[in-house]
Amino acid sequence: MTDEELLTHAAEAAEGSYSPYSHFRVGSAIVTDDGSIITGANVENAAFGASICAEANAITSAIAGGATSISTVAVVCLDGDPCTPCGNCRQIMREFGVERVILQTPDGATHPVSLEDLLPMSFGPEALDI
Ligand code: THU
Repeated sequence: MTDEELLTHAAEAAEGSYSPYSHFRVGSAIVTDDGSIITGANVENAAFGASICAEANAITSAIAGGATSISTVAVVCLDGDPCTPCGNCRQIMREFGVERVILQTPDGATHPVSLEDLLPMSFGPEALDI
């Protein structure tokens, strides 16, 4: 699967967003250790703090489904400028070994970045001997 195809899956997933408060639809598509592609969208809540990001939805769904690690995460925001993952999602990515994050530039180009660039000097499971 190319980065562009993964972004297409993420954009399709964003159509499933439940975002009546922000009207900011986000989709994510991730590649698990066995090569499966799992997608997610942001799901908001009237209690705003209970909202769940697209990346968190995709990653937790994959892990709950048996994946043990995730190599790549693609993110697409349909409304407004392209977005980058929030801090909480970067930490969730860190837990499961994500190395590459595929973003889009404002002109729609594919923009891969490393998780190390997004979350330098990070805290991870090995610090707790996991
Ligand atoms: N959001 C995501 O789903 N992922 C991101 O990377 C950035 C933000 C969502 C959370 C909320 O539902 C909406 O976008 C506005 O913050």
